[in-house]
Amino acid sequence: MLNVHILVGTMTGIAQLVAQEIELAFAGPELGIDVAFMDALDRRVFEQPGVFLICTSTYGQGDVPDNAKAFYADLGACRDSLAHVHYGVFALGDSTHVGTYCFGGKRFDEVLSARGARRIGEVMEHNASGGTLPEDVAIEWFPQWLQQVCAALAADPAVAAANAGHPGD
Ligand SMILES: Cc1cc2nc3c(=O)[nH]c(=O)nc-3n(C[C@H](O)[C@H](O)[C@H](O)COP(=O)(O)O)c2cc1C
Repeated sequence: MLNVHILVGTMTGIAQLVAQEIELAFAGPELGIDVAFMDALDRRVFEQPGVFLICTSTYGQGDVPDNAKAFYADLGACRDSLAHVHYGVFALGDSTHVGTYCFGGKRFDEVLSARGARRIGEVMEHNASGGTLPEDVAIEWFPQWLQQVCAALAADPAVAAANAGHPGD
């Protein structure tokens, strides 16, 4: 069974809604999905088996949301390799913020890739001014991201074995 851990950075709950909708729509016997706010997280979250979906909005002048700041800072201070980590990014933003569009998700992408973590797929950007609902876009986007996840893991047998968990899980 594959586990997807969705890590949520949010100010007003929209990224949380996106994560919950993905969990509701796709979690099942073959796919474990859990949702965690970033508030209390640090680098140790990446010690658990599975793949990670960073689901975060952007605030201030291209900053990560308040509840993501400590986690982001911890990753920035981290000197450990995160080469075992596979992750995707669903970034929420608003294109009226020219120059900092979706920077919250992009910042996490940068800090994770700098530690050797491997992104699966492109950073998915949702534009709050684009006339679509982020949860609808996420539901459409997630299956093809999952296909990319499966392809990446299949190409890496060691990772596939680690992500498979223990017999009887
Ligand atoms: C005060 C404020 C600052 C924002 N700054 C940015 C920004 O710099 N770049 C961006 O792409 N979006 C920015 N946004 C847009 C939010 O990221 C977007 O509306 C998002 O969907 C909010 O999701 P959340 O409820 O999960 O926090 C800003 C929104 C507000 C209210």
